[in-house]
Amino acid sequence: MLSLSNIAVSYDGSRILRGASLDVQPGTVVCLMGRNGVGKTTTLKATVGLVKTDGGSVKLGDAELGTLKPDARARAGIGYVPQGRDIFPNLTVWENLRIGAIAQGRKLNGEVDRVMTLFPILKEMLQRKGGVLSGGQQQQLAIGRALLTNPKVLLLDEPTEGIQPNIIDQIGETIKKLRTRGLNDDDPKRVEEIGNAIKTLRQEGQIGILLVEQYLDFCLDVGDRFYIMDRGAIVAQGPIANLNDAIVKEHLTV
Ligand SMILES: Nc1ncnc2c1ncn2[C@@H]1O[C@H](COP(=O)(O)OP(=O)(O)O)[C@@H](O)[C@H]1O
Ligand SMILES: [Mg+2]
Repeated sequence: MLSLSNIAVSYDGSRILRGASLDVQPGTVVCLMGRNGVGKTTTLKATVGLVKTDGGSVKLGDAELGTLKPDARARAGIGYVPQGRDIFPNLTVWENLRIGAIAQGRKLNGEVDRVMTLFPILKEMLQRKGGVLSGGQQQQLAIGRALLTNPKVLLLDEPTEGIQPNIIDQIGETIKKLRTRGLNDDDPKRVEEIGNAIKTLRQEGQIGILLVEQYLDFCLDVGDRFYIMDRGAIVAQGPIANLNDAIVKEHLTV
């Protein structure tokens, strides 16, 4: 459904993406992994039209989106939750949820109930300001908002960042999770709910999900396929079951 082929992006004359290609099918979760700075976020930004590409194509079904502005790509069916979530701290949860649909000039119908079912805590907090939510709650809000734009494909940029035991490390052959940093009390539960929401969407089979994620266990739990990026290129890919220690050691550990 979503098909990126040979995407090239440069910042200030230096090549950041060197011909990245990947595919996402409906009802599947595709994990885009790689160390910090390899170009994962840039890949998503190129998909939604927030950075200019030097070449390549972005197709959704048969439609070429590569020349369209971000709002037109959103209308075509690309939903995007940026890294760091980007909710409006001074708007209420309810206003935050509606804003994507408002921008598209649409009324919301039953879709809100669906988001409340996926993320029950939001229902209790509809009138609270987005800024008072925990990191995990804000992430759910950002995903909920993106879902309300009715996407065909949903791009999630590190949804568990800062709300889970982060950073993977490898000591000998053992993959270990290190450090818990800045964890809010309720956030482990939010991570679990986000994982469950992703699985629910996968089961429903309508939406394809492209998940940028450094939390290996999360990818192993929710992913169908993986792509690993290194220095702006895809260097490994396959069914998630093929993600083995050797690949992790070569491309993911710090
Ligand atoms: N707006 C920008 N201007 C210049 N360089 C950038 C910009 N955004 C990202 N970069 C650089 O591009 C590379 C890829 O960044 P990014 O796509 O954010 O990586 P990742 O998401 O994999 O951590 C990094 O070296 C980063 O420093
Ligand atoms: Mg990033």
